[in-house]
Amino acid sequence: MNNSHNSRRPLAARRLAGVVAAAAAVSIALVSTANAATHAAPGTRPHPADTSLRALAEPTGLRIGVSINPDRLSDPAYAAIAGGQFSTVTPENQMKWDNIEPTQGTYHWAPAEKVVAFADAHGQKVRGHTLLWANQIPSWLTDDVGNGSITDAQLRTIVKKHVIDEVSHFRGKIWQWDVANEMFANSWDANPLPDGINGDEFWVQHLGEGIIADAFRWAHAADPHALLFYNDYNISGEDGTNAKADAVYAWAKKMRAEGVPIDGIGEQGHLDTQYGFSGDLERSDLQRYAGLGLKVAITEADVRTFVDSAATQVPTDSLAASAQSNEFSQELQACLEVRSCISFTVWDVDDADSWVPGTFAGEGAATLYDVNLKPKAQYTALQQTLQLAAGAPRR
Ligand code: XIL
Repeated sequence: MNNSHNSRRPLAARRLAGVVAAAAAVSIALVSTANAATHAAPGTRPHPADTSLRALAEPTGLRIGVSINPDRLSDPAYAAIAGGQFSTVTPENQMKWDNIEPTQGTYHWAPAEKVVAFADAHGQKVRGHTLLWANQIPSWLTDDVGNGSITDAQLRTIVKKHVIDEVSHFRGKIWQWDVANEMFANSWDANPLPDGINGDEFWVQHLGEGIIADAFRWAHAADPHALLFYNDYNISGEDGTNAKADAVYAWAKKMRAEGVPIDGIGEQGHLDTQYGFSGDLERSDLQRYAGLGLKVAITEADVRTFVDSAATQVPTDSLAASAQSNEFSQELQACLEVRSCISFTVWDVDDADSWVPGTFAGEGAATLYDVNLKPKAQYTALQQTLQLAAGAPRR
């Protein structure tokens, strides 16, 4: 597992103070009573009765999403949040290759289908995640590539079949597909190709970087109506040099010029309070991708911080929640300000399910809901941001 999402040098500790002041400046009271409209002062917007994130976002034309774990859907509290607060869902792991085809030739669609059925029942769209990624590939494949019993020519045939079979299986049910995930080099990667693609990435190493464009072509042939995304981290706002974003931009421009069927760029949006982040840079990077005629999306937003333990996930810094709220809100604002930003997805419903404690030692509290499924300040911050945005709809 790559541990380095959004890795930059820590900020001066007290930068948090400025963050808190900024968070306070946007604080407005949310009233959820049905009769709020009758008390609204002249010239002010009444607060809607439904203050779910999906309802607040509706007037802006933006969909708010969440990654879900289908094993948790039997918990009514979890299901109520997943179905009630969000208007798009992403299966957190169930469409990844190791889950879809754990044994070669035997497909295991049921968990992913459960997510699709849940979405259908709740008027939600689905982000398919992900077809071409170096992680969570089945061991029958990596073992045989490693020992040479699958040649590179055979690997190409196998990956083509994987993309076509999976996209075809879900044809008509997927709004956006993350066709390729995390193919670009970070500043710490040893072997970037001249255009910034990671030469050590599994698929690139074996099949050359042209495999990315081919995956888009195969996916498009299998479902011409799905929006096809390239998805990555540190590609809008987190990396001060912006080098990775520049490389993705130049590559996407080339793909468009060559007629490769790419529809969008997904910024994962995994943030960490110990590193720098600029909402302004995020907005301008997203706008730049949009300038190529592409859609954009925030696909995996979460904001982690240091916590007491993985079980309880109480931040160790008393100012952390304010910083987290502020960064979540800035990410959402950046998306709202770019008309082509069509969805803002948070990664995991609650802290109990978050990938963060298992991936980043000592960190957690990265989602909108705590380990007891109680909404946190971060949730309220997103409500407030959406409430403000509803006054200036994007469509
Ligand atoms: C993570 C899941 O949340 C974990 O449950 C799993 O063990 C590993 O993958 N970038 C991605 C996501 O594109 O697929 C990752 O999801 C988080 C980082």
